[in-house]
Amino acid sequence: MELPPPFLSSLRGKAVIVTGAASGIGLGSATVLAANGASVLLADLNADGAEAAAAGLRAHGLKAEAVGVDMGREEQIVDMVKAAVARFGRLDALHNNVALLAREVVGRDLGISELDADIFRQCLDVNLVGAALAAKHAIPHIVAQGGGAIINTASIAGVRGEIVRAVYGSSKAGLIGLSRNIAAQYGKKGIRAVSISPGLIMTPSIAKAISPAQVDRLTRHALVNRAGKPEDIGNLAAFLIADEGSYITGIDIVVDGGFLAHWPTFAEELEAIGDVSQPVPE
Ligand SMILES: NC(=O)c1ccc[n+]([C@@H]2O[C@H](COP(=O)([O-])OP(=O)(O)OC[C@H]3O[C@@H](n4cnc5c(N)ncnc54)[C@H](O)[C@@H]3O)[C@@H](O)[C@H]2O)c1
Repeated sequence: MELPPPFLSSLRGKAVIVTGAASGIGLGSATVLAANGASVLLADLNADGAEAAAAGLRAHGLKAEAVGVDMGREEQIVDMVKAAVARFGRLDALHNNVALLAREVVGRDLGISELDADIFRQCLDVNLVGAALAAKHAIPHIVAQGGGAIINTASIAGVRGEIVRAVYGSSKAGLIGLSRNIAAQYGKKGIRAVSISPGLIMTPSIAKAISPAQVDRLTRHALVNRAGKPEDIGNLAAFLIADEGSYITGIDIVVDGGFLAHWPTFAEELEAIGDVSQPVPE
């Protein structure tokens, strides 16, 4: 594992829980946080994967521990928060990052007229209620040691409609609202809450779920010439948790290479007009 260079000075001594940290964006966030000096608890349903990732960080001399958790089970969420406080002696931040992305779930998340209420409840339980419960149990510890941050990974699917994935999108819109409400309710007690809405980020789940042709189509609509990487989200999460981000709260930050920044016809117009940065021929 190659470590990103540290760029934040104030994370040293802070303790952070990152959920969904065995893989993808959660692992990217845990890596950036640890590389910048934070003590990180990597929490995941895949306990072995979380332990292997934590061991990889420790091998670089970083402070990382792991715990197994099912974010659909409150008693396990309570144990996760207790484990962070027991191991690090404090808790400064929580990065909620888990969503149900398995094919058997996403494949049944179609249009509203095909709505499967069980899938909807299961997704809300893990994606949204789990994040809210983690915040509920983390907040008293974060307040007790002087304040900190709750970061929720939402999605651009929470700010735009899609042809499919109505349940996923609704749960992500819920996370944006949850973050705003945590910010409003606990701001004066020193808690900042921010949601991050990633666009296309190349993670194991995404690589399995979409074809290279889909990646090309989506990238064509972005304003930068690449798909996102887990560290793109990790860099922002670390900045928001650090003192450097201490005036930022109550908002959703879209990290999508400009995917949502333009007219829907962007890619077609670019194709028709060509490279607009070149001088127009006489
Ligand atoms: N990758 C993208 O393009 C993208 C875009 C927008 C938003 N997101 C969001 O980012 C987050 C991470 O996505 P990713 O692409 O890194 O996925 P990923 O599959 O690589 O990582 C998700 C992790 O969550 C864990 N997990 C699943 N169910 C769990 C549960 N019940 N309890 C605890 N852990 C559980 C998995 O074991 C896995 O390690 C998700 O919330 C996803 O919705 C991803």
